[in-house]
Amino acid sequence: MTDPASERHRMAKALVDEGVLKSPWLRAAVETVSRERFLHPGVFLDEGRTWRPVTAAGVDPDEWLKIAYSVDTLTTQLDGHLTADQVGGPVAGVPTCSSTDPVTVVGMIETLDLATGHRVLEIGTGTGYSTALMCHYLGEDNVATVEVDAQVAARADAALEATGFSTWTVTGDGLLGHPYRAPYDRVIATCAVRRIPYAWIRQTRPGGVVLGTVGSWPWGTGLAKLAVGDDGTAEGSVIGRSSFMQARAQTVAPVAGDLAARTAYADSERRAQVSPLALEEWMPAFLAQLAAPGAQFVRATGGDGSPLRYLFDPEKESFAEFLADGDSWTVRQGGPVGLWDAVERALVAWQDAGAPDIDSVRLHVTPVSHRYWIGQAPSLRWEHPIT
Ligand SMILES: C[S@@+](CC[C@H](N)C(=O)[O-])C[C@H]1O[C@@H](n2cnc3c(N)ncnc32)[C@H](O)[C@@H]1O
Repeated sequence: MTDPASERHRMAKALVDEGVLKSPWLRAAVETVSRERFLHPGVFLDEGRTWRPVTAAGVDPDEWLKIAYSVDTLTTQLDGHLTADQVGGPVAGVPTCSSTDPVTVVGMIETLDLATGHRVLEIGTGTGYSTALMCHYLGEDNVATVEVDAQVAARADAALEATGFSTWTVTGDGLLGHPYRAPYDRVIATCAVRRIPYAWIRQTRPGGVVLGTVGSWPWGTGLAKLAVGDDGTAEGSVIGRSSFMQARAQTVAPVAGDLAARTAYADSERRAQVSPLALEEWMPAFLAQLAAPGAQFVRATGGDGSPLRYLFDPEKESFAEFLADGDSWTVRQGGPVGLWDAVERALVAWQDAGAPDIDSVRLHVTPVSHRYWIGQAPSLRWEHPIT
């Protein structure tokens, strides 16, 4: 029978070999904290179009440990309520809770540069596994973790207690932070946000760090690392690509609203200088979200098999519709904001600047705005007022 401790050591070694796990204290945590205890009652394994439920009770113990210590994201909840013990076979659904893959979790914790005595706020407790890794080093009193889903929070709390970490587990909207335990030295979010909530910065000590994934598309999102200044603002960069489920309060509603009149009589029509297919790549998608915050990219196929692409911003009642014409594209735009004009300007300036990757993006957050920029180019600066 497989020994869980040797599985933990094997996973830790794999993370060291990948260059992700560097700190001795974090290696000790990975080698000690039982990931399988945070997966109760089970997980859903990705089978393409469906999810196969696997519970600890319903599978061979060796197989269960193999799953628990795979370096995969393990989905523990679908559609905001379904757990693996509630279904008898593969189901369709959207993941709403998971134990994030250890490469990402450990990489993010390393990025926090934690030191003894630090006080941490985690947003998105999920299974509680990442919380436990930090508690192992900092002590249970120095970690507070907020989870929006009451059932998920209760399961995480039970798992943390069972593994010996009686930490501050809070059920609530993490976008508000958790002022009662502030100030924090570090804030880490394991769900994505459209923009970093100012509450996180207000609750962080000067010199402290806020780490979270920004963006609202399923791809084209980046990990922002901000240092909080004495003046209550925060500045830093997007340090790499990062993909997380959206914070629930900010989940983008499917494009709704009636733009029928506008789409029938578009305000303008022209040839696109850049193919909208560029938005299917990570960095152009990130840029599009900077240039047209609030816009969603929609892909469809015409009756004749031709690709159809759209940008919609229901709040701004604006759209861009792309029609393929051989190798080129016609763009029809309507509404108060020229969505594609803004995105295309950014994409052209970015290409002119040598197409730098996402880690070239800088970010400054104040109580009233988010400013993003790349280098010195005036066309690569975006100010997002907080409304
Ligand atoms: C990817 S999981 C977290 C993974 C977790 N850190 C782990 O190691 O298991 C994301 C979690 O964020 C939670 N979440 C989503 N929106 C939230 C919000 N507004 N406040 C707090 N938690 C939120 C989800 O319910 C989900 O459990």
